[in-house]
Amino acid sequence: MTTRFQLALFSNALFAISLANAPAQSAESAPDTMAARVLACASCHGAHGEGMATFPRLAGQHAPYLLKQLLVIQSVLRTAPVMHGVIKDLTKDQMQAVVAYLESI
Ligand code: HEC
Repeated sequence: MTTRFQLALFSNALFAISLANAPAQSAESAPDTMAARVLACASCHGAHGEGMATFPRLAGQHAPYLLKQLLVIQSVLRTAPVMHGVIKDLTKDQMQAVVAYLESI
């Protein structure tokens, strides 16, 4: 369990970095879609954001609800240390892109 948790944290860090530094998509680059980026969330929230054990479902939740959760977690009004680590460097624009995608799946 510890190993899985550490792996999840590692992939989160990569996700945060890829979200923050994502280059503009070009025809030559590897696919850089929101679907590919949210794979990092799958280790906890399920392969399709369907939720797993104590990890809440994200897929199909209303975007304004998800955005509010991300904002309150980032500002530590809601205590969720693991999630805070995942999203602490995201801008509001990046959050809006992620939650719009999650609502659509
Ligand atoms: C290491 C595990 C882990 C990963 C990876 C992870 N999360 Fe979470 N996430 C959690 C946990 C645990 C909670 C519940 C926190 C709590 O107890 O309040 C949560 C809660 C959330 C919530 C609030 C949902 C609700 O209904 O309250 C959102 C939104 C969310 N995560 C989005 C994401 C996104 C987007 C990603 C990928 C960038 C991600 N998470 C990656 C563990 C994770």
